[in-house]
Amino acid sequence: MERSTQKVYELGAVNEQELCSWAKVLGECLRGGELLLLEGELGSGKTKFVRCVAQSLGIDETVIRSPSFTIVNVYPGSVLTLIHADLFRLSSAEEAWDTGLMEMLDSKSVVAVEWPELIMKDLRETKTIIVELSLVDSSHRLVSVFVDSELDYLRESLDKYFERFSGGL
Ligand SMILES: Nc1ncnc2c1ncn2[C@@H]1O[C@H](COP(=O)(O)OP(=O)(O)OP(=O)(O)O)[C@@H](O)[C@H]1O
Ligand SMILES: [Mg+2]
Repeated sequence: MERSTQKVYELGAVNEQELCSWAKVLGECLRGGELLLLEGELGSGKTKFVRCVAQSLGIDETVIRSPSFTIVNVYPGSVLTLIHADLFRLSSAEEAWDTGLMEMLDSKSVVAVEWPELIMKDLRETKTIIVELSLVDSSHRLVSVFVDSELDYLRESLDKYFERFSGGL
């Protein structure tokens, strides 16, 4: 994965409500076919972020369960279908690709992957958004969002959003 072609949006340290608001804004900008990779330590808020993105896809966030054990969960939404994966329990890239996860990505769906490291090296997908989360304290997370150059519509929307709120909410 090349990060040089990506634009980074630094959200700074946000509380849970702010993180959710940002995730919803991002979710509203999605058109289908995007791959969302969520990196961050245990409990950093990856599933929380996906729950909030899901709301913007027309999915009731309370139905979203962590896919730690099922590995892949599929939620049809009124806007787009969410494919939500967690590769933490897998041990090889082969196992990760064998989930068939990437074959589920089409123009009417969004794939969100927690613990994506196993697939990152061989990714050919270019409509990629990387969300990096890290713990600041018990109620704050540092959030950076990397957006691929191919996702110009998303960059435009996020740029406008940042200008309007000067990076805040
Ligand atoms: N600012 C914050 N943003 C997100 N979550 C927060 C924040 N502050 C506290 N939390 C709490 O941190 C926890 C994050 O849990 P979550 O399951 O989303 O993490 P995760 O990164 O998916 O973990 P795992 O690696 O185990 O899948 C939740 O209990 C949430 O309430
Ligand atoms: Mg999780």
